[in-house]
Formats: sequence, C-alpha cells, structure tokens
Amino acid sequence: MLMSPTVRSGTLVMLIALLRSPATTVAVPPPSSVQASAIGADVTAGKHLFERHCAVCHGIEGKGGRGPGLNRAQLAHAPDDTALKSVISDGISPDMPAGWFLTDEDVANLAAYVRSFSNIPSEPLPGDAVRGAGVYAKGGCSNCHIVAGAGFGYGPELSNIGIRRSAPYIRKAIVKPGATMPEGFLLVEAITPSGDKIEGIRVNEDTFSIQIKDATGQFHSLRKQDLKELQKLRGESPMPSYGGVFNTSELDDLVAYLASLRGKQ
Ligand code: HEC
Ligand code: HEC
Repeated sequence: MLMSPTVRSGTLVMLIALLRSPATTVAVPPPSSVQASAIGADVTAGKHLFERHCAVCHGIEGKGGRGPGLNRAQLAHAPDDTALKSVISDGISPDMPAGWFLTDEDVANLAAYVRSFSNIPSEPLPGDAVRGAGVYAKGGCSNCHIVAGAGFGYGPELSNIGIRRSAPYIRKAIVKPGATMPEGFLLVEAITPSGDKIEGIRVNEDTFSIQIKDATGQFHSLRKQDLKELQKLRGESPMPSYGGVFNTSELDDLVAYLASLRGKQ
C-alpha cells in the first residue's frame, strides 16, 4: 500500500511529488474512500497536526479520550472523505471545536492520517453490554438520561454516547461526574426576588437574562437584575457518583452497554 510505514520516506516524497504533478492526475484511479484520501496527502504532516490539535481529545494513537476512538472502519459522521474533511474543518457542535485555522492541505493531510487509524483494531471491552442494560435500569439512570426516546432528559441524551465518547471517558463520567463535563455545561443556582431557590442547568445566557432547566424539566427564564443571587457552580455536576454503588463487573457491563449505543446508525 502506498502509505505503508515501511515505504522509505524518500520514496514516499517522490511518489507524492509524482502524484501531485498535473500530468499524472489522469492516471489517478476514481475516488474510492481510503485510497482517495491517501493520494496527494502527506500522512506524516497529518500525524504532526493530529498530535498537536487532536490528540488531546482523541488520544495520541486515535484510540479516543474525551472524543471517540477514530480507529474504526466506519466513522458515523464521516462515511466518505468529503464528510471527514468537513468534520475536521467545521467541528461538531458543541463538543468538537472547528479547525478554522487549518488550510485545505492541512485538512487533507489530517483526513489521510485519520483514515490510517482504521487499520488499528479496537480493544475489546471487558463488560457485557446486555447485562449492562440491566445495570443501567437498576441504577436509575433513566431518571436523568434519555436512551432511544425512553427516560427523562435532565442530563445529556445517551442514545449515541458510543460515537461521542470513548469507553474510558464514559467510565470516568460515571465514577467522577464532576471531572468530565460536556462542553459549555454549567450548573447554576438562582435566588428569585421572592426568595425561591432555583437550581438547574444553564440552557442559555446573555447580558440581561439566563434560562435554567431544573431537575423536574421545567424551564425558568430569569432577568438577572431581578435576582437576589446568581451563583455559577463551576465544576459541579448534579449527577451522583456511582463509584461506590456498582462493583467492578457491574461497572464494566454498564460501560460496555453505553459504548454500544450508537444512535440510529
Ligand atoms: C475538545 C476535544 C476535541 C478536539 C480537540 C478534537 N475533537 Fe474530534 N471529536 C470530539 C468529540 C467529542 C467528537 C464526537 C462529537 C459528536 O459525535 O457529537 C469528535 C468527533 C470526531 C470525528 C467523527 C468521529 C465519528 O465516529 O464520526 C472525527 C473524524 C474527529 N473528531 C476528528 C478530529 C480531528 C482530526 C481533530 C483535530 C483537528 C479533532 N477531531 C479535534 C472532540 C474533539
Ligand atoms: C440526577 C441526574 C442524573 C442521574 C441519576 C444520572 N446522571 Fe448521568 N449526567 C447527568 C448530568 C446533568 C450530566 C452532565 C454533567 C456531567 O457530565 O456530569 C451527566 C453526564 C453523564 C455522562 C456523560 C455524558 C456526556 O455527554 O459526556 C454519562 C456517560 C452519564 N451521565 C451516565 C449516567 C449513568 C450510566 C447513570 C446511571 C448509573 C447516570 N448517568 C445517572 C445527570 C444524571
């Protein structure tokens, strides 16, 4: 294969130079996913960019962290290379930032490097997803989360958590909720003019007002200047830690279950 690491770098540079020259473009085979991304792209440059801009969330070898592992043959958001490049340039709101600072060439190089992860097998998870569904039910998780339309949506929907987060991150979210917050997540506490305390998740905020969703699912739209107090509980999650609730094998099963949730794909 063209991008095999065993190809000497000198040879690779020559090959790329050849493939890039206009005269050879007619010889390029019709675009077909993996191959098309490799042609004309510099995987080594892609690797450096990935380590600098992406590894913080996807892991140095693309096996995942806060973001999902990218070592999959099929990426949910990136079925083809055009989609992959859009994901890299535009990000995925709210949890993946846009790569607005990347040139088209950077994006192509990154895409080629991301595709190279598809050869890395994903490590099997220790738990059992079917048993994990039982742990999820027993744990009362559906009091705050929706999976496939069932449950209550105080916390984030988990129907596709398996494509949004890696398994180690999911585990941490269950054991140490405060350490793994979704982007922009903020718990707030407001005291209204009549002295009522409203605690909930910030849905929206501007200079003059704030919208809060409380644990019963009710929305409150409040004018800041009317409030007696407005406290932002940064780093605090309303989700209790389940570290001491489940034993290790229950936790393994629960993580396997959540990692298997991949939405409608
Ligand atoms: C701040 C963390 C963060 C950074 C930095 C980041 N990502 Fe992501 N990425 C995510 C998250 C979270 C998702 C899942 C989003 C979702 O599905 O809602 C994601 C999704 C993706 C996907 C889609 C995966 C799929 O299965 O469809 C690709 C591809 C991707 N990222 C590539 C990159 C590349 C390349 C970079 C660097 C230029 C990068 N990401 C930087 C967090 C990040
Ligand atoms: C009292 C409400 C509540 C309960 C009960 C609850 N959660 Fe959560 N959960 C939340 C909130 C709010 C967040 C977002 C803040 C955070 O990450 O801690 C969250 C975040 C998460 C995340 C990370 C989501 C993401 O997008 O990063 C996972 C995974 C999760 N919960 C799983 C569970 C599981 C499994 C259970 C049951 C064992 C459970 N939760 C029970 C409220 C709850």
